[in-house]
Amino acid sequence: MTDIRKGLVGVVVDTTAISKVNPDTNSLLYRGYPVQELAASCSMEQVAWLLWHGELPSDDELQVFEREERAQRALPDAVRRVIDGLPLDAHPMDVIRTAVSAIGATDPRVNDASPEGNLAKAVTLFAAIPAMIAYDQRRRHGDDLVAPRDDLDWSRNFLWMTFGEEPGDIEADVFRISMILYAEHSFNASTFTARVVTSTLADLHSAVVAAIGALKGPLHGGANEAVMGVLDEIGSPDGVDEWLDQALASKRKIMGFGHRVYKHGDSRVPTMRTALDWLIAKREAHGLAELLDRLEAGMQERKGIKPNLDYPSGPAYALLGFDTWMFTPLFVAARVVGWTAHIREQLEANALIRPLSEYVGHDERHLEGAPAGLPSTR
Ligand code: COA
Repeated sequence: MTDIRKGLVGVVVDTTAISKVNPDTNSLLYRGYPVQELAASCSMEQVAWLLWHGELPSDDELQVFEREERAQRALPDAVRRVIDGLPLDAHPMDVIRTAVSAIGATDPRVNDASPEGNLAKAVTLFAAIPAMIAYDQRRRHGDDLVAPRDDLDWSRNFLWMTFGEEPGDIEADVFRISMILYAEHSFNASTFTARVVTSTLADLHSAVVAAIGALKGPLHGGANEAVMGVLDEIGSPDGVDEWLDQALASKRKIMGFGHRVYKHGDSRVPTMRTALDWLIAKREAHGLAELLDRLEAGMQERKGIKPNLDYPSGPAYALLGFDTWMFTPLFVAARVVGWTAHIREQLEANALIRPLSEYVGHDERHLEGAPAGLPSTR
């Protein structure tokens, strides 16, 4: 029997110079820099540039990039019409997937797969996705589109377009930090999906749309939304033990816990938890902090399993005012940077990704009375 690694567990499928996840030291490097340092000091724009180009931008490079990004923040009319055609009860991940597909279908550069062409399309997506998400949340509340501001950085403008008011410094910082932490994470399921699609030489938008589909699942990006369901179900800190005992007895996976690669804790959690705690202190949401701490301790005690990034980011997005089902689209807005960096890297040394499988179906058999194939003439 062939040695089959279900879920490709432990299989190294390619090299990458974009990020390094080290489960032994609980560390995550983007192009060599610890993500904690980037989260402490950089804008999302600087991190996007770093992931795409391999180095942090110079002041001049950053200025040019910011101008290019700010010029593309408005929601294109064609995309707005597509979003308006979707029902208000459609899941926002389905909306963002459709909107990104629409951007691809209306982009004259769609078939330009040169490194420059793909970079330009990546910048367009990075700039325009916040408008799609912001508008989608607003239309569900009966609110109008808010025009982008070019005097705000990417993170602040995202919050501005969503809520129609300038965020406070703590809010803007918490959001920026979450976006940086979500931007890239090596060969996770959605990034691998993007690389598989790219390996067929399909266009960048097709790869991103496929990646959004992979991210939607609750075992991947959908977990940040699912965490809020767990917290709502538990209700209050005193309910944690009973809820957890029952959930584990019925073999439920607790959303926001566990990770395929990190087995001793997710490198991004302490940074995000600190940022969440700033917001919790500002909003005096101390019950939430206690609930999170008790559930984390309960999981550690019963299963020895630690939280992943979705655990602190979900509650942070809730405190910022995002509707729960918008959380995974927020992950898209950040991870599109990582996906597009990987799409470009895949194309630098492409090989069609086409694994093998071991057949375990029926033995060969034949249709009764049927000829073995087509007659040579008719
Ligand atoms: N809740 C309860 N038990 C969990 C768990 C969780 N969140 N995550 C893992 N486990 C348990 C499994 O049941 C299994 O126990 P067993 O050996 O008794 O059967 C053991 O831990 C190993 O889990 P496994 O499913 O093999 O790990 P994996 O590497 O395949 O799965 C995840 C990783 C992320 C899919 C898994 O941890 C999970 O489903 N987490 C919840 C969803 C989530 O938060 N996803 C976001 C990831 S960033």
